[in-house]
Amino acid sequence: MRLRTLARKSVDAVLAPFHQWGHLPLGEEVSQLEHALQCAWFAQQDNAPEHIIAAALLHDIGHLVTYSETASHPEEDDQNGYHEKVGASFLAQHFDDEIVKPVRLHVAAKRYQVSTQEDYRQGLSQASYHSFLLQGGLMDASTCHAFESSPWFADALLLRKYDELGKQVERKDADYSQLTLDDFYELLIEHTRVVKERNSYA
Ligand SMILES: [Fe+2]
Repeated sequence: MRLRTLARKSVDAVLAPFHQWGHLPLGEEVSQLEHALQCAWFAQQDNAPEHIIAAALLHDIGHLVTYSETASHPEEDDQNGYHEKVGASFLAQHFDDEIVKPVRLHVAAKRYQVSTQEDYRQGLSQASYHSFLLQGGLMDASTCHAFESSPWFADALLLRKYDELGKQVERKDADYSQLTLDDFYELLIEHTRVVKERNSYA
C-alpha cells in the first residue's frame, strides 16, 4: 500500500468522529466542530507550529470518541469524562507525541493557569469553569511544579490559549466561518506517524 494511502486512512479515521458527532454542542455556544475549527484557525493566525495547529483542531476529540462508543457523555451527568485521556489514546494510534501530549495535557494546562494566575479564572466561560471543577479544580504547589517540569508544558499552555479563544459564537463575516475540516487535511497527512517516520530509522 502506498504511504499516502496509509496516511489517508489514518486521517480519515481521525476525522470520522467529527463527521458523525461534530454537530453536537460543546457546552458553549458553538458546536464541537465549530470549536475545533476556530481553535485551529486561531493557532494558524498566531503562526503556531503545525503540530500545535493539528492539536488545536483535535484536542477535544475525546468527547466525540466517547459519544461514538456510548452515545452519551459523562459530563452531561456531571462526571469527569477524562476526554483529554480518551482523545490522546485515540490520537496515539495515528500521531506522535508532538500532537498527543499537548492534547493529553490541555486540561492540566487549564488547572495550572487557574491555580497560578489570579485573573485566568475570570476569562473562563461558565462551562469551562464547571468542567474545571469536575476535572479536579485547583492544583497544589507540588502538582504545579511537576507540570512545569513536563517537556510538554509550553506546548500544553499554547494549545490552551487557542482552546479559550475558540469558543466564540460563529459569525457569518468571520474568517473562520468558511473553514472546513478539508482545510486541514493535508496538514494532518503530513503529521501522521506513517509520513513522519518516512525517513526515520530510530
Ligand atoms: Fe476545547
